[in-house]
Amino acid sequence: MAVERTLVIVKPDAVKKNAVGDIIRILQENDLKLLALKMIHMSKEEAKGFYIVHKDRPFYDELTDFMSSGPCVPMVFEGENAIAKVREIIGATDPAKAEEGTIRKKYGTDVGRNAVHASDSVESANYEIPYFFSALEIHNL
Ligand code: PPS
Repeated sequence: MAVERTLVIVKPDAVKKNAVGDIIRILQENDLKLLALKMIHMSKEEAKGFYIVHKDRPFYDELTDFMSSGPCVPMVFEGENAIAKVREIIGATDPAKAEEGTIRKKYGTDVGRNAVHASDSVESANYEIPYFFSALEIHNL
């Protein structure tokens, strides 16, 4: 299995719930290494750029309004098969459909306010990681 890097964002709803520490703990306890993190408050334009792949979807405006509504915490995690592994740990996009024990089941509210984002492919990670982090901000552990 390949060692991969993935971009995870603790979304504004979960930051407000004081869930940042717990989400980092869950991911680290699953053998994922935290290589970078910061807290930022995106502008609407920055959120639109991040989610450009969804620009033609009906929820684009709602999603980017939400993601620019308060601070969020982007992070880079590394590990074996990290992209699929993190997606499994966070659970389904809709928290109502997420498995027991997943992060979205624990902290999500609905399909928009679902606590966390994670890259869904190597191609997405290659766009998303440099969107928030320069090479100097990502640490090799
Ligand atoms: S996925 O995981 O990409 O297959 O999920 P998808 O259903 O395509 O949704 C992509 C992101 O859009 C968010 N989303 C919404 N936001 C607001 N309102 C509505 N109705 C809505 N539906 C989907 C969803 O939380 C996904 O965000 P990220 O950050 O990628 O997880």
